[in-house]
Order: sequence, then structure tokens, then C-alpha cells
Amino acid sequence: MESGGRGERPLRSCDAGSPREAFERERRNVRRTAGPDLRVLKGNDLVQALKERFPKKVWDPSVLLLPNPVVLVSCGSEKLKLAPDIVTVAWAGIVNTSPAMVSISLRPERHSYGIIKQTGEFVVNVPPASLAKVVDWCGMKSGREVDKFSEMRLTALPATTVGCPIVADCPVNLECKVSRTIPLGTHDLILAKVTAVQVSEEVLDKKGKLRVDYADVLSYAHGEYHKLGSRIGVFGFSVRKR
Ligand SMILES: Cc1cc2nc3c(=O)[nH]c(=O)nc-3n(C[C@H](O)[C@H](O)[C@H](O)COP(=O)(O)O)c2cc1C
Repeated sequence: MESGGRGERPLRSCDAGSPREAFERERRNVRRTAGPDLRVLKGNDLVQALKERFPKKVWDPSVLLLPNPVVLVSCGSEKLKLAPDIVTVAWAGIVNTSPAMVSISLRPERHSYGIIKQTGEFVVNVPPASLAKVVDWCGMKSGREVDKFSEMRLTALPATTVGCPIVADCPVNLECKVSRTIPLGTHDLILAKVTAVQVSEEVLDKKGKLRVDYADVLSYAHGEYHKLGSRIGVFGFSVRKR
């Protein structure tokens, strides 16, 4: 069957190179030739053949969205005498372009939740993979009992638009002001406007462009920490003329 035929997986950028990739390619080829010719099938027969080609298990509902960022959210206020805290958050996302907005989902019982509720401010710090253990630790301990900045030897520096510190050890820091909180069940969805972004100079190239590969960011997938991996394309590359 020609590449791109009905029911066949399109070629991907991983279809070259290492022995592992060659193995995967072979495996797909075997599948391609083993089943019926999908081009002659219709209706239920086609669906059945496709189901056999793409066997699936149906699981209970869960939040299996892969991968996700995992961030260190810092909060606190000198003015309100609220000691700085850091909470590890994997339920974080981008929600709007203009105004720039992000979301974090927090359980109301978190110590950090109380602080953010009082101040209406926080910083989303994007950690490098080298801080994976710190990220995990900050998600195991509560600011009620420990000072996470000092225990983890993290550097607190002032933010420019909010009263809580940034985690300077992280290459990207989004200063945020809460605009809305939506209780959802276990977690409250906190929507916030990004009021300033700090970026470490060491992750910028000579032209001042952010190099994601220099930032070496961490991702979180199915309870595991992962490095992001290498760049395989840029926005719009699928439709760009060569
Ligand atoms: C990888 C990871 C991701 C987490 N994501 C979230 C999250 O999205 N929302 C949340 O409420 N708690 C999350 N937690 C749990 C909190 O980080 C944890 O309960 C932390 O100790 C709370 O700190 P605090 O009491 O100082 O606020 C996560 C923990 C880990 C390890």
C-alpha cells in the first residue's frame, strides 16, 4: 500500500535513524501487509478492520493528557506577612493569548491555595529538568511545615509586578494576577493574567530569542517526569513551502 493510504499511519519524523526506529518501522510494515486490503472495505467491515489494526483498550475517565508541563508556583507576601511558599503544579495550562492568561488547578486544602486566595497573586516558574527532584520534593512537602526556598536552596528574587518572589533558578517566570477562580470538584481552576515574564539570559540566543532547548524544560506524563526531547519542527512547518 502506498504511504498515506486509507487506514495507514502517515510517515512521521521518527521514521528514520536509530535501530529502535527501524524496528518500529518494520513492525508497522508487518501490520500493513498482514491485514485485509482496507481500500476495498466499506461501512462496518472497514470499521472492524480498522479496529483490528488499531487495537484499543477503553479505560475509565481520567486526565490522561500527555504530556503536561510541571511547574513550581511561588506565592507569599511580605506586606501581608505571608511567608513565601512553593507548590508543585502539573495541572497548569495556557488559556488565552491576549490578554496573556494561564491557569493552575489547586486543591483548596493546599497551604499555597490560602496564600494565593489572600493575595490574588502568584508566579509560575518553569523548571529545568535538572530540578526534577526539587520539583517532586516541593510537591511532597507543605509550606505549613517547611520553608521550601531554604530547604531546597532555591533563590527567591523579587517579581516586577506582583508581591511574591520568583524562583530565580527557573529559566522562565510568569508573574500572575488572579482574575477568576472556578471550583470544579477536587480542584479549583484559577485563571490568571500574566502581568510580566522574566526569562534568564542564559536561555536566550545571540538575537535574544528564547531557546527552548537551552531551557531544558521538564514535562510530566502519567505520573512520570520526562525531559522534553529534541525539536522536530516549528509552528506551521507542515504547510510551509520548502
Ligand atoms: C508532580 C506533582 C504535581 C502536582 N500537581 C498538583 C496540582 O496540579 N494541583 C495541586 O493542587 N497539587 C498538586 N500537587 C501536590 C502539591 O504540590 C502538594 O500537595 C504540595 O505539598 C502542596 O504544598 P503546599 O501545602 O505548600 O501548598 C502535585 C504534586 C506533584 C509531586
